[in-house]
This record gives sequence, C-alpha cells and structure tokens, in this order.
Amino acid sequence: MKNIMLILSLLFALISCEKPKEKEQKEEMIMYVPSEMTVLMREMFEFQEKSKKQIENGQLPLGFPEKFKEIHSAELSDQFERDASFKGFTNLYFQDIERLNSSTKETAKKNFNLAINTCIACHNTTCHGPVTRIKKLLIK
Ligand code: HEC
Repeated sequence: MKNIMLILSLLFALISCEKPKEKEQKEEMIMYVPSEMTVLMREMFEFQEKSKKQIENGQLPLGFPEKFKEIHSAELSDQFERDASFKGFTNLYFQDIERLNSSTKETAKKNFNLAINTCIACHNTTCHGPVTRIKKLLIK
C-alpha cells in the first residue's frame, strides 16, 4: 500500500499542475478534486488526440465543440489566476481554433500545430506538468 501511494504521488507530480507539499501530500492526494478547468482540459486533450488522427488520415480536423469555450470562465484551482497573460493566451487559442476550423486539407496540419503550440505556450507560463504530453500532440 505504501509503495502504491508513492508511485501514485510520483505520477501525480509528473502529469499534474498541482504541486503537493511534502507534508500534506498524502492528505491532498486523498482529498484531491480536479478543478472545472482541469476536467475541461483533460477532455480537450482527448478531443485534440482524435482530431490529430483525423488530420493524419488526410481529413479535416474535427469540429471544435462549443463547450470548450468554457475555458474562458471555468473555475481554476487556487494556484492559478485569470490574469492578463492568461486571458491573452485564451484569446489566442480561440483564434487558432477558428483558423483551424476553416482549414483546407492542405493547411490543416500547419494550423493544428499552431494551436497546439499555443497550448504549450500557455502551459509554459502556468502549468508545466502536462507540457511533455501536449508536445506529443504535434503532428510531424
Ligand atoms: C490559457 C492557458 C491555457 C491554454 C491555452 C491551455 N491550457 Fe491546459 N491548463 C491550463 C491551466 C491553468 C491548467 C490547470 C487548471 C487548474 O488546475 O485549475 C491546465 C490543465 C491542463 C491539463 C490537466 C492536467 C492535469 O492536472 O491532469 C491538461 C491535460 C491540459 N491542460 C492540456 C491542454 C491542451 C491539450 C491544450 C490545448 C489544446 C491546453 N491545455 C491549452 C492552461 C491552459
């Protein structure tokens, strides 16, 4: 059981934005409830994985679901703040998505990668944990 907790908390530290403090680590793990934004971002990650496959198969990207617009308002966990830079990246991301949605099969790959680079840029200023995973979304 102790080992499992250790592995879990290591994994947690690797993939998540949260930075559990050592002493409270165990307690936080048990009480951890992902924020609205975290839940939304995880769904968006899966969505972009599917969209990537679609483009790799020579098709147009999947239509971007309206619900992801909630990124503008979804509740963040305490350590993050919707400051000017955050809002800037959010707006940039939605511009990228608009461009992606009006892509042709020829421009889809380039526009997809532009959008993913905005995910990475925002994450580099806020939540470093998932950056390596997000980079894997880039189409070669
Ligand atoms: C405007 C900045 C911003 C943009 C753009 C952005 N993210 Fe995020 N992302 C965040 C923040 C901040 C969190 C942490 C939310 C929280 O803890 O409340 C997060 C959380 C996540 C998580 C959850 C990590 C966990 O703890 O499980 C994933 C996965 C993720 N983002 C992937 C993406 C992907 C993929 C994109 C682009 C398609 C993207 N993000 C675009 C700021 C952003």
